[in-house]
Amino acid sequence: MKLFDVYPLYDITPVKASGSRLWDAQGKEYLDLYGGHAVISIGHSHPHYVQRITEQLNQIGFYSNAVKMPLQEELAYKLGELSGYTDYALFLSNSGAEANENALKVASFYNGRKKVLVLKNSFHGRTSLAVAATDNPKIVAPVNEAEFIQFIPINDEQALSEAMDETVCAVMLEGIQGVGGIHVPSVSYLQKVRSLCDQFGSVMILDEVQSGYGRSGYFFAHQYAEVKPDIITVAKGMGNGFPVAGTLLSPKFEAKHGMLGTTFGGNYLASAAAIAVLEVIKEENLIQHSAELGAYTIEQLKGISGITEVRGMGLMIGISLPYSSAAVRKNLLMEHGIFTGSASDPNTLRLLPALNVSKADIDTFLDALKSEVMKGQAS
Ligand SMILES: Cc1ncc(COP(=O)(O)O)c(C=O)c1O
Repeated sequence: MKLFDVYPLYDITPVKASGSRLWDAQGKEYLDLYGGHAVISIGHSHPHYVQRITEQLNQIGFYSNAVKMPLQEELAYKLGELSGYTDYALFLSNSGAEANENALKVASFYNGRKKVLVLKNSFHGRTSLAVAATDNPKIVAPVNEAEFIQFIPINDEQALSEAMDETVCAVMLEGIQGVGGIHVPSVSYLQKVRSLCDQFGSVMILDEVQSGYGRSGYFFAHQYAEVKPDIITVAKGMGNGFPVAGTLLSPKFEAKHGMLGTTFGGNYLASAAAIAVLEVIKEENLIQHSAELGAYTIEQLKGISGITEVRGMGLMIGISLPYSSAAVRKNLLMEHGIFTGSASDPNTLRLLPALNVSKADIDTFLDALKSEVMKGQAS
C-alpha cells in the first residue's frame, strides 16, 4: 500500500527534536518557528511532558469513556484555573474540527436553530460541518455543503447587524484568523458579536484552536476584548503534538447522557499530555513570555523595509510581503534552516513558534528574513 498523496512535501525527514530545534536524518539542524503548524506550545520533547506521558503509559494507556478517569477532571480543573473559565464544563475530543462540530451541535441542541454565521477567510476544520463553515470552496465536497451557513466579512459591524436575527443559531469565529493569514477581530467587533448574540438568543462560539493556549499573549486571544463567549474550542497547542481537543461550555448548557460522545477523546495518554502542557505553561510563565517576546518580534519586523504589513498578537504573527512569500519561505528553510508557515493568502508568511522560543532564536530569524527580503527587493 502507498500513501494517499494529499500533502506537498519538503524533502526533509525530521528524526529528532528538542525545544525549538529539529534534526533531520543527516543530522542537519533546523529552527522551528512554525511549531509543526501551531501545535508545539511548550517545545518539542519537553522533559516534563515526556515524563508525564511515559509514566502514564507504564500505568494504563487506554480504557473507554465508560469508566471514571480522575485525570480528565484534573485536566478540566487546571484548564479552568489557567484560562479563567473555572465555571465552564469541558468535553474532550481528538481534533480541532471535532471540537468545532461538537460546539455547533451543542449550540443547535440548545436553541433548536440551524443558521450559522461565520467569517470570510475562516478555517474551522475538515469534518462535514466544520468544513462547510470554512471559507474555502476547494475543500468542501458536495456532501459537506450546508446552505444554512452564511459568511460575513471580519470587523464589519454593519454586515453583522444585518445578518443577525432570531433564526441565527450561532456566530462562530477564530480568536485570530490563522490559516486566513493572521487577521485579528477588533475589540468592538467581538463586543458587538457578544451583544447581538445576547439580543437574539444566539450562541457565541470562539474557535481558539490555533490562537489559544497562550499563543496570543493571553490564554485565549479573545480575552484581549474582555468578552466571554458561550463556547470555546481548543486543540493544537493543547497536547503539544498529542492529539487532544476540547469544547469548553458555559454553565447555561445542560449536559444529557448520550448528547455527545467519542471513543478516544480524553483518554489517559491524551489527558496526561494536556495536563503536562498546562503545568509547563504555568511553571515557565509562558503566556507572559509569549506576550513580551511577541511584542518585541512585531516591533522589530515593523522596522524591516520591504515588508508591507505585520499583523498579530503575541507569538501568532503574519508578515505580508509585496510578492508571493513562497520563495522567501523556501530560502529560509533550505539556506538558513528555519521553518515558517504559509497562509491561504500567498503573500503572507506565518510565525507560530513554541511559546518558549528564545529571543536569540527570534534574532536569528530576523537577520535571515532581512537578508531574504533584501534579495527580494533587488530582484
Ligand atoms: C482555527 C482552526 N480551527 C480548526 C482547525 C482544525 O483543526 P484539526 O486539524 O485539528 O481538525 C484548525 C487547523 O488548522 C484551525 O486553525
